Amino acid sequence: MTSPRTASPRSHPPANARGRHDTAGSIARVENLSKTYGSDAGHVTALAGVSIAIPAGSFTAIMGPSGSGKSTLMHIMAGLDSASGGRAWLGDTEITALGDAELTVVRRRRIGFVFQSFNLVPTLDVAGNISLPFELDGRRPTGAEQAWIDELVASLGLTDRLAHRPRELSGGQQQRVAIARALATRPDLVFADEPTGNLDSRAGREVLTLLRTASSKYGQSIAMVTHDPIAASYADRILFLADGRLVEERPRSTAQEIGRFMLDMEPAA
Ligand SMILES: Nc1ncnc2c1ncn2[C@@H]1O[C@H](COP(=O)(O)OP(=O)(O)OP(=O)(O)O)[C@@H](O)[C@H]1O
Ligand SMILES: [Mg+2]
Repeated sequence: MTSPRTASPRSHPPANARGRHDTAGSIARVENLSKTYGSDAGHVTALAGVSIAIPAGSFTAIMGPSGSGKSTLMHIMAGLDSASGGRAWLGDTEITALGDAELTVVRRRRIGFVFQSFNLVPTLDVAGNISLPFELDGRRPTGAEQAWIDELVASLGLTDRLAHRPRELSGGQQQRVAIARALATRPDLVFADEPTGNLDSRAGREVLTLLRTASSKYGQSIAMVTHDPIAASYADRILFLADGRLVEERPRSTAQEIGRFMLDMEPAA
């Protein structure tokens, strides 16, 4: 891969941005975000006032026990779900102020997704899956974009698989296709929810190395939800949620350090 990609911040927070996090140079941020599902008797508080910033060009891991609000946070940041309170920005765009049609365009053009279950289109071959974001946007990749896609395909080892359907590929290969699709449009931010959850440890390490490289070599901003301390050890920074709140923020750490911290976080039995 030779295409240069600048990691310069694309936006600046508004002058009145406050909070305990440094938001300068962030590609995405949320302020006092809350989310409640249901109403009255049956309501669940998924997020209870979360403020975070994702630095441009960084690889950020989001960890926390099951039910702590990780997916909810990611979905609101990606415009897939609405907030009950607080605000979310992608660059200068306030996601929480947009309507459905505008959100669809933001998701299509400025966000990439990698899911645990790959989410490839079974009837499309690898080439078709990778160019799907352009297709959905009603256009073909430009020459420069196609060169970037070719480079991604080569570096992900998919060149001789372009005409294959997803069911003809291993899980690790399918996830590499999903990563190529997520990176193809050079989105502002890639969200990955448990991207290694369905992979064995070797395929998982390959996928994590690819995400790590996309961030360090090409300045791709990535936010990855994971339960796995090994996966989180590939990230520049680790955010820990518990009960819908941000409880800790750590710089790059070893899997052992992350594992130890997770044990300390567990309530005493
Ligand atoms: N659509 C929904 N309706 C009702 N409650 C929901 C909904 N989605 C999530 N919740 C609840 O919100 C809380 C946070 O869920 P979320 O999926 O964000 O957790 P998570 O940290 O991603 O968990 P996991 O690690 O198991 O994926 C949970 O209590 C969950 O049951
Ligand atoms: Mg989840």
